[in-house]
Order: sequence, then structure tokens, then C-alpha cells
Amino acid sequence: MRMRILSAIQSLCITSCLWLSMHQPAAGQQDTLLAPLITDVPYRHLVNLDGSWHYIVDPYQTGYIDYRYRKTTQGFFLNRQAQRPDELVEYNFATSPVFQVPGDWNTQQPALTYYEGTVWYEKDFLYHPRPGKRVFLYFGAVNYHAVVGVNGQIVGEHIGGFTPFDMEVTHLLREGKNFVVVMDDNTRHKEAVPTNNFDWWNYGGITRDVYLIEVPQTFIQDYFIHLDDLRSRIISGWVQLNGPAAARSEVQLQIPEWHFSQKFITNGQGKAYFSVQAPPHLQLWSPEHPRLYQLVWVAGEDTLRDEVGFRTLSVQGENILLNGKPIFLRGVSIHEEAPFGGGRAFNKGQDHVLLTWAKELGCNFVRLAHYPHHEAMIREAERMGLMVWSEIPVYWTIDWTNPATLANAKEQLREEITRDKNRANVIIWSVGNETPRTPERLQFMQALVKEARSMDSTRLISAALQISRVQRDTSWLDDPLGADLDVLGCNIYPGWYGPSADEQARFASVYHKPLIMSEFGAGALAGYHGDSTQRWTEEFQYRVLNEDIRLLKTISFLRGTTPWILKDFRSPKRLLPYFQDGWNRKGLVSDRGQKKEAFYLIRQFYEDIASGKTCFGSQCFGP
Ligand code: GCU
Repeated sequence: MRMRILSAIQSLCITSCLWLSMHQPAAGQQDTLLAPLITDVPYRHLVNLDGSWHYIVDPYQTGYIDYRYRKTTQGFFLNRQAQRPDELVEYNFATSPVFQVPGDWNTQQPALTYYEGTVWYEKDFLYHPRPGKRVFLYFGAVNYHAVVGVNGQIVGEHIGGFTPFDMEVTHLLREGKNFVVVMDDNTRHKEAVPTNNFDWWNYGGITRDVYLIEVPQTFIQDYFIHLDDLRSRIISGWVQLNGPAAARSEVQLQIPEWHFSQKFITNGQGKAYFSVQAPPHLQLWSPEHPRLYQLVWVAGEDTLRDEVGFRTLSVQGENILLNGKPIFLRGVSIHEEAPFGGGRAFNKGQDHVLLTWAKELGCNFVRLAHYPHHEAMIREAERMGLMVWSEIPVYWTIDWTNPATLANAKEQLREEITRDKNRANVIIWSVGNETPRTPERLQFMQALVKEARSMDSTRLISAALQISRVQRDTSWLDDPLGADLDVLGCNIYPGWYGPSADEQARFASVYHKPLIMSEFGAGALAGYHGDSTQRWTEEFQYRVLNEDIRLLKTISFLRGTTPWILKDFRSPKRLLPYFQDGWNRKGLVSDRGQKKEAFYLIRQFYEDIASGKTCFGSQCFGP
């Protein structure tokens, strides 16, 4: 008898342990659940999950960790509600308040303005599975650490607040009612990317669109296309299929305006490389003529459209050549923040306002700092003729010797390049901003440069560096990382952080490479006027920028400027009452859309460059 009771207890334990192990994701197991990133999402067959999501603020992660601090299997992913009067369920999404997705929580709920921690999101949705279709759940971005569950089953985890991710959910969706639960934690960490210290608001939440992407069993997952040479007009690249019939399958590329159609056969990995010739009447993409062509891929049951531009990009000595011609990048730095009142920007309307201000400034270029912006921003800039510097948030004092930090930075870089590599206006991948000069940092950044080049040999690699030393009246840029970059970026703040530009007579570089002055500027409270020596007045900002421009005009190898910054932006580091109140005031435009006096100074500077009146060394950039 005793034996039977013992064996019964043993079998119960084995069963429950088995159940636990099945439902208790192994460390890192969720990472493996993510699917390869699907690109060209705006042109896919989408079910939009944006809109109202219930939320629960959970600073102690009660929905994920039990009282012994173990990952619980009874977590909020189950989306339970009490079924009996005596049942204990201490949460209820259905009766919890809602947030709008996309959007940060800080500006949707005043009590959460400064909240950093875990928030749960839940969305009920009806779905009708279509025979033969596969379904992927796609997030444009979730800041910072997301764990995703569908119908009670954890399906994926993602770390990084500014790049997309997706997971296959075909097997989890059911006819009719479904639900998705997201645990989002935006706590800052030393080992994170960015690390725990940065000069922008740590907006938490599902800050970009959420879709179900419906595709055939075998579908076109990704592709890369680029113009390689002006004279030969050779266009090359590759296309990647995903699914049971991916290998050794036919894929067709069509460019209707050229009456072009060509078929390729994928290899054993479902990938086909191609090289074709564009017609003589090919119209190149440029800021003046942002020409896009409709492109159609056909593979079995899948048809994928996109709009792409063709241009060439290279560096020749101290010149940056676009379509074989030296250009000057008349730019401005931009944070991904709504034009009025702050909060994450996430839609075309907001993008159009910000980019129209940049056009009014006379820009042909924008530095989208300090992290990849949402896809609609890149595409809107492409349509408006604005070239883009895109950057991963390897910012300030990253945890350089931590392998997990490097792996995270590489993954964010891969996701950024995967998503935007077909946008003709993206010309620079920046691997970081104002990182300190140490051997560990150099090794870390060189690994990122290598990763970027391995994915995309068609674009320029840069980073925002800092002046390394000042010798008497000369500021030297001799950061060793410069040797690995195609284009040098440098942030300087004479007259704001330190002596004025007039006291720095010369700016020199040990490299024979193009320079983009990626940051310079000063703060001003819009509407606050006074003497130009009175800090925070518009006159002070104007004077500092005027002195900066005098210095910039002496730099013969200068090929671009992106003054800091288009618009005042929120930062918890900016604490001066009345003048800052949690805002960084270096904007040329205020957070209410008021153009400060310095806006018109930069506009004149750019008019003089575009007209050929202002040249750099012997190089002019007039029509
Ligand atoms: C730095 C940094 C910016 C910051 C700026 C400032 O250069 O790159 O992110 O906002 O200075 O101090 O305003």
C-alpha cells in the first residue's frame, strides 16, 4: 500500500515539475522564440492592433515574480478573472484603465510622468484564421524590455527600446476571441543600451504600432536592393524567402515603370542574389528630386510591393559624394518627440511637422538622435528629400566590458539596418554618441563598425566623437575610433560648455576624412529676451551660434552640420526652475512651435552654403 501512495506522490511531482518546466521559460528561452524580422511592413497584409489596451502598473512585477522571487507560472499572461465568488485573482485587465497604443505612458497618465518600471498591457481582439496563412505578431518598438504572451502562452521577449521585433503566432491564434499580454519594463540599467544615464526622457510603453502580419506558408521575408554604379547602372542585392518552399524557388522582381521583370531562383537557404541593369532613363534619388519607383516582388502566392529610390554614395578624400557629386549635409538633430508638448512621436502627422520645420530651416539632412526612429519618420523624410543619419543608443558611458551589452548593441544595430536598408535617404549608420576614449570602448565600437559593414557595405559609418585635446588655440580631433569611420562626427559646445568659439581659433583633425559637426548649440527660453551675454535669452543663443558659425567656416574639411537641436525636448536632467523645468532648451524651435531668433541664423547659413556663397576650403556647394 505504502509503495502505491509513494508512487502516486512521485508521479504527481513529476507531472507538476514537467508542467512547470513546460511553462517556466528557461533563461533566454524567450530570446529564441523571436522570428526573423519581417521588413517592408507598411506594404504587408496587416491586422492593426493599435488603439485601447488595458494596463496595470506593477512596480514589483507581481504579475511575473512570486513571493520567493521566482518567475511564476500563474502570471498575468494568463489574463485570468475570478470564476467563482470565493476565487482569489488579484488582478483584472478587463476592469483596468486603458492606454492608447502606440504611445508612451508618461504623457498619457500624469501620475506616470516620471514612472520607470513595469507596466502590463492587455488587448482582446477577434481573429478569423485564414486557411494556409501564417501569422506573425509585430511590434514597431517597446521601450525597454518586453515579454509577450498570446492566449496565455509566452511567445517572445525583446530587449531594446527603439527597434522592431516579431514572433510567429499561427499556432496560438484561435477562431473568434483572442488576447495578447505584454509585460513592459523601462527600468534603466548600467548594462543596458542606452545605459542608466542619458539626456532624454525615458518614455516607457508600446511606443510604436502593433500588427498581426498575415503571409502565405512561404513568403518574402526580406530583401535588399541598391544601385552600385552610376555609369553601368548596375542594381544588385538579394531576396530572402521564409517557409517550407523557400529553397530553390522562383522569385520575380518587377519594376513596372521600366517595364522590367526578371526571375531568380533561391538557393538552399531560400535566398537569391541578383544583379541587373537599370534603363538609361533611370532617375536618381536626391534631396532635390526624391524619385521613388514602385517595386514588386512575386514568389508563389506572395506579392510584396515597396517604393524605393536609387542613388550612389561614397567618400572621396574629404568629400561626400551623392550620385558622384560633392554634397554638404545641411542638417539638424532631432529627437523622436512630438512637435508640441513632448511625448514619443509615432505618426506621420507629427513627423510631417518636424520635417517641415527642418525643410524651412533649409535642410537636406536630419540626424535622428540618439536611437532609430520609427519607420514612418524615415519614409516621410525619404519622400520629402531629407537624407538621414541613423544611430543606435550607444550613448556616453556604456558597460563596455559586458558581453551581454555588446550582444544587445549588435542586435539593435542589426534590427535597425534590417528595417531601413532599402531607404535611399539613409546614408549614415552611426554606432554611437560621445563615448569615452578607452581601449575597451574602442574594441566595443570597432565590433559594431564591423557588424554594420558586414550587413551593409553601401552606406557610410560614423559616430559622434568629441574633441580630444586642445593645444593653445587649436582643438584637435584625434579620437582613435576615427580611423575606423568613413565620416567623422564631432560634438562641440563652445560658448555653452566652456570657452567661446572665438577663443578656439582652429579646429583640426588628424584624419583626411569628411567631418560632420554633429552637435553645437546653446539653450534659450523662447520669448525670453535681453542682452546677448544673459544666458537663456534668445539673444545669447543667437550670439553663441553666430560665433560657432564663424568657427565652422574655417574648417576646410567640414561637409555637414546638425546643430543641437531642432526642438526643445524633455529631459529629467534639466532642472533649472523657470528656464528648464525638465526641458532641454537648445531647440531652434520651442516645445510650442515658436521659432527662436537662432532659427533664422542657421537658415541664412544654409542659404549661403546652398547658393555657393559660403564654401569650405576650395569646395563650394552651389547649384
Ligand atoms: C550632448 C549629447 C546630447 C545632449 C547635449 C546637451 O552632446 O549628445 O544628447 O542633449 O549634449 O548637453 O544638450
